[in-house]
Amino acid sequence: MMFIFVMLGLVLCKELAGSSAVTTVFVQKGKDLHLHVNKPVVIPEYDEFSWRVNDTGSIVRLSPDNKVRIVDPYKGRVEFSVQNHSLILKNVQHSDSGEYTALIAGDETQRVAEYKVIIQDPVSPVNLSVNSVSNSTESCNLTVTCSTEDSLINSTFTCDKQTCHQEGGEQSTNTTSGSYLHVYLLNEFIICKHSNQVSCTSNKTEIQPLCSLTGSQSISLCLMKTVMISVGLIIMVSAVISVHLMKRLKKQE
Ligand SMILES: *[C@@H]1O[C@H](CO)[C@@H](O)[C@H](O)[C@H]1NC(C)=O
Ligand SMILES: *[C@@H]1O[C@H](CO)[C@@H](O)[C@H](O)[C@H]1NC(C)=O
Ligand SMILES: *[C@@H]1O[C@H](CO)[C@@H](O)[C@H](O)[C@H]1NC(C)=O
Ligand SMILES: *[C@@H]1O[C@H](CO)[C@@H](O)[C@H](O)[C@H]1NC(C)=O
Ligand SMILES: *[C@@H]1O[C@H](CO)[C@@H](O)[C@H](O)[C@H]1NC(C)=O
Ligand SMILES: *[C@@H]1O[C@H](CO)[C@@H](O)[C@H](O)[C@H]1NC(C)=O
Repeated sequence: MMFIFVMLGLVLCKELAGSSAVTTVFVQKGKDLHLHVNKPVVIPEYDEFSWRVNDTGSIVRLSPDNKVRIVDPYKGRVEFSVQNHSLILKNVQHSDSGEYTALIAGDETQRVAEYKVIIQDPVSPVNLSVNSVSNSTESCNLTVTCSTEDSLINSTFTCDKQTCHQEGGEQSTNTTSGSYLHVYLLNEFIICKHSNQVSCTSNKTEIQPLCSLTGSQSISLCLMKTVMISVGLIIMVSAVISVHLMKRLKKQE
């Protein structure tokens, strides 16, 4: 019994939290912002529907007689659907960030959708450079720098004949511009990745050509095979020749 009540409580809490939750939306500067009212809305007869930003200015208003009014600064940048109340704001700029709400206003005001909109620039390219390589017959160490214009990660990789690993595991940092820089190992490649919520750039370098460990191993294996096959051939040929010679000698006798 207690259990059922607890479960019910959890479900109710979840629903309440869900209905009042603000959804965060990231949009790349210059792209379009799409906002929807996810639940079906019933607009009472004398009420007005509107999309507003920062609780101050309206973007679009739908009057009780179903007339759409797009507010001046947004003319030409906004598409609004009377059917489903979706809003499209085109070519967003940083100044378009803010809290967007869909309201039904009349005798009472009701929020039917709420979004926190964050506009981001695409991230800058990354540089991945190899600072040093030290090779021995048993192991290979290399250090790399993964950098953007405002942040940097140094990382060291150690390889033996079988595998490579990254000292201290994957390395990452948050940049001052709010993006994420990340260096890690993936299938013999070192990957340097710069990302935020709207874009990603990366660069990679293959370990094997830098560390000649596996390379030298396969060369020596190849060499050994060649030598063995050659020796085998020589032995076989000389065996055949000597049998021939023996037969001739016997005939002459
Ligand atoms: C809302 O309607 C418009 C056209 O009227 C359509 O392009 C858009 O996809 C619809 N949005 C949703 C969420 O259904
Ligand atoms: C909303 O408010 C934020 C922070 O105060 C501001 O940066 C943003 O430009 C405002 N958005 C609009 C569309 O006025
Ligand atoms: C690589 O680093 C490890 C540990 O720091 C060290 O034991 C090894 O000798 C180094 N190998 C080379 C080729 O420098
Ligand atoms: C990457 O390296 C090149 C050449 O070393 C340099 O010209 C460029 O500015 C660097 N870019 C970044 C993002 O550090
Ligand atoms: C990273 O490595 C470079 C080259 O070895 C060095 O100049 C720089 O000081 C290092 N930076 C950090 C933060 O360790
Ligand atoms: C970067 O920021 C995120 C969110 O603020 C945080 O969860 C993460 O631990 C940070 N990572 C680093 C490497 O500082």
